Amino acid sequence: METKTYNIAVIGGDGIGPEVCGAAKQVLQRIAEKDGRIAFSFTDFPWSCTWYKETGRMMPEDGLDILKRFDAILLGAVGRPDVPDHVSLHGLLLAIRQGFDQYVNLRPVKLLKGAPCPLKDVRREDIDMIFVRENSEGEYAGKGILEADRAEQVGVFTRRGCERIIRYAFELARRENRRRVTSISKGNALNFSMVFWDRIFAEVAKDYPDIEANSLLVDAASMFMVRDPGRFDVVVCSNLFGDILTDLGAAIAGGMGMSAGANIDPERRFPSMFEPVHGSAPDIMGREMANPMATVWAASQMLDHLGRPDLGKRVLDAIEAVLEEGVWRTPDLGGSAKTSDVTRAILEKL
Ligand code: NAD
Ligand code: IPM
Ligand code: MN
Repeated sequence: METKTYNIAVIGGDGIGPEVCGAAKQVLQRIAEKDGRIAFSFTDFPWSCTWYKETGRMMPEDGLDILKRFDAILLGAVGRPDVPDHVSLHGLLLAIRQGFDQYVNLRPVKLLKGAPCPLKDVRREDIDMIFVRENSEGEYAGKGILEADRAEQVGVFTRRGCERIIRYAFELARRENRRRVTSISKGNALNFSMVFWDRIFAEVAKDYPDIEANSLLVDAASMFMVRDPGRFDVVVCSNLFGDILTDLGAAIAGGMGMSAGANIDPERRFPSMFEPVHGSAPDIMGREMANPMATVWAASQMLDHLGRPDLGKRVLDAIEAVLEEGVWRTPDLGGSAKTSDVTRAILEKL
């Protein structure tokens, strides 16, 4: 039996990032040992705000060339209170997402069994949606001016950019037997970019008569995510709306400690990157309080992407089994277990 080795770049980053990446690495290692047909070789990179303080950069000038050789990237989180966030995030996280044209940000919002939910009168099965967030342009294009008395932030929406992400959402719906794609936009106020987005959504939807296409304004969509989450299945939206709504999604599906995302280049020209939705959580760093489940879930998405959805599912099932058992819970889930306790519990379920 031949073993395929995957080379994974690990960027722990700041705060709890390295702690939760440590958990995800152990899980990947264990599932590979159990399977026997795959193996992982991890290379850790120290790129972070600490590295910035020493070098003046968030990653080396040829950072993307270095990362390009890897099969995938595992990222913890970036950001430290004493480095401006726009410097740290544009210098590392956004530089990778955009530099590698990881134009799909896939963020599942699914309430696992045993995970807490703050909503009343909602069935667990009703919280099962997948966000397809545009991840390469839009409000995050990084264009504009910043002067003493005036700032302008330019959103860039291209036909290519909108069409490819919307098409991806419909293809995903087909592939996963999901019936509905909801586009979330704001054409009533954003009279250029979102009018453009809405037009392209309507055009692309015509190619998928088998999938129900639905469009919501972002304000109403926020309300429905709380009042009637069952109406969402596949959701497609712009970069900023996807950012905001997936924190809301995390809140209804167990919290920030449970929410994962994959930054994908579907054409596989570049490595894709897997990370939790949460940030570096400086308030709890170094105290073994971080819930590793979000990053372990991201590792499960990595397995899916590397062509082993069977293993991805086993990892997700292990997380769910630990939650359902309810013994090992970090403080965000109302328990007092440590990061390492929860990691061990997940490893045991594997
Ligand atoms: P955050 O997600 O780091 O934290 C928000 C709250 O959730 C905090 O109370 C934190 O303790 C809690 N939390 C987050 N992850 C948790 C986990 N795994 N287990 C338990 N509790 C968890 O958001 P923030 O405080 O707005 O941002 C902190 C820093 O992280 C900032 O510098 C920000 O720019 C950065 N950030 C980075 C990323 C990223 O790298 N992908 C994402 C979001 C924010
Ligand atoms: C996320 C984060 C990032 C984003 C920040 C840190 C730039 O909030 O991954 O959700 O806005 O995409
Ligand atoms: Mn965010």
